[in-house]
Amino acid sequence: MQCSWKSMVLLVLASIAIQYTAIRTFSTKPLSLLCSVGLAAAGRAILSHTPSSPSFPSFNASKRTHILILATTRSGSSFVGQLFNQHPEFFYLFEPLYHVQLALLPRLAQSRNLAERRVMLGAARDLLRSLYHCHLNSLESYIRPRPTNHSTDKLFRRGASQSLCSPPVCEAPLGPDEQNLVLADEGECVRRCGPLNVSLAADACRAKRHAAIKTVRIPQVSDLRALIEDPRLNLKVVQLVRDPRGILASRIETFRDTYRLWRLWRATGRRPHNLDLGQINTVCEDFLRSVSTGLARPAWLRGRYMLLRYEDLARFPLQKTRELYSFLGLDLDHSVEDWIINNTRGSSDLSSRQKFTTVRDSAANAENWRVKLSFDMVVYTQTACQPLLELLGYKTVFHPRELRNLSHSLVEDRTFVPFF
Ligand SMILES: *[C@@H]1O[C@H](CO)[C@@H](O)[C@H](O)[C@H]1NC(C)=O
Ligand SMILES: *[C@@H]1O[C@H](CO)[C@@H](O)[C@H](O)[C@H]1NC(C)=O
Ligand SMILES: *[C@@H]1O[C@H](CO)[C@@H](O)[C@H](O)[C@H]1NC(C)=O
Ligand SMILES: *[C@@H]1O[C@H](CO)[C@@H](O)[C@H](O)[C@H]1NC(C)=O
Ligand SMILES: *[C@@H]1O[C@H](CO)[C@@H](O)[C@H](O)[C@H]1NC(C)=O
Repeated sequence: MQCSWKSMVLLVLASIAIQYTAIRTFSTKPLSLLCSVGLAAAGRAILSHTPSSPSFPSFNASKRTHILILATTRSGSSFVGQLFNQHPEFFYLFEPLYHVQLALLPRLAQSRNLAERRVMLGAARDLLRSLYHCHLNSLESYIRPRPTNHSTDKLFRRGASQSLCSPPVCEAPLGPDEQNLVLADEGECVRRCGPLNVSLAADACRAKRHAAIKTVRIPQVSDLRALIEDPRLNLKVVQLVRDPRGILASRIETFRDTYRLWRLWRATGRRPHNLDLGQINTVCEDFLRSVSTGLARPAWLRGRYMLLRYEDLARFPLQKTRELYSFLGLDLDHSVEDWIINNTRGSSDLSSRQKFTTVRDSAANAENWRVKLSFDMVVYTQTACQPLLELLGYKTVFHPRELRNLSHSLVEDRTFVPFF
């Protein structure tokens, strides 16, 4: 029998879909996935502020640990990624699942097809497992154009990974007045390091004690259950959440096309009738389901799930980072602490104001959505996300005056202690 390539693809997709029937749908999220945080003008005083910290049991830190940062776009995941990227014992990958989504579902934004999303999620899990085991060539089959001789210049945000921009993966020639290679930004890494040698990258991955991967393409922690229960993987999930009103305000600024109607609403004061409500509902539903799962403390998440509010990290970056490492049972390296101190001073003298950098000026603090969204938009979002706001301790506002009065915070003090 003759088989066209289309029917072959369908056959493959169908068989994968059957394999992963238990999976929830992959949610519609904008393709762009970069996150940034703006940290409050936190001086050293705030940085060293230490209210009662939860304590954690100690682990055998010699065991290879795999971290997944489970996040959504504009929730501060680039910042959390840096807390591992800056650690010399970590191999870090920034959003490798981008390639899976691009290869399997190029029109995901339009696709509401359940089977397609299951395929995507199944493939995503398989790839994550391979990547944690440093089988980086698994990624090659998703990269377009397909790498030849295990070499590619198309790896998404390669420059965001320190391991991929430093020797032995990158042996960029030194400039005339350089003592040793210090790459100033992601673009410079890509310019000077040349194509990525995937075999060398895999060696670098194996040479590191631990690995961390950040993604905004997994909707809920339950989608990761198979990986979490895999004893060979030792996977720990850090779920990063943020006030959905803050996510919305940040996305409106960043994803200008996708969120065009929201900007129209803000500008005209009238809600467009064809506004895509799914954009914010999806965030709240995924957060709600995932966080509810985590807080219900099922046995399979014991010692493997930590909930982190972006707002807490923005206010107490050092303290929260210490808690994070304590949960993981790993030592916090001074280079991570140095990086935090360098990047959370709220310096306003940044040369560039790129959307996707980790570092933002102090004006862009965690609660600045309160001056960016109209009261109507806030009320609308609150109504759609009410159960989530309560669960995470974000206060509802009832009056524009309350919204704009930044001297009272809308973030309740809450401590989410991981369970062991
Ligand atoms: C930690 O685990 C390693 C390997 O599993 C073992 O050799 C070592 O003795 C353990 N250390 C402690 C303090 O338990
Ligand atoms: C791949 O490697 C082979 C053997 O080293 C070489 O002949 C070929 O030109 C390489 N292909 C590309 C696209 O670099
Ligand atoms: C990648 O690195 C390996 C190991 O050093 C080397 O054998 C291989 O030739 C390199 N590939 C390319 C395309 O440079
Ligand atoms: C922190 O900033 C200082 C001064 O700019 C710099 O020398 C140092 O390398 C930075 N450290 C980190 C970890 O970014
Ligand atoms: C802002 O909130 C603070 C603290 O709740 C309150 O003391 C103050 O009167 C409020 N200011 C205005 C203008 O409403």
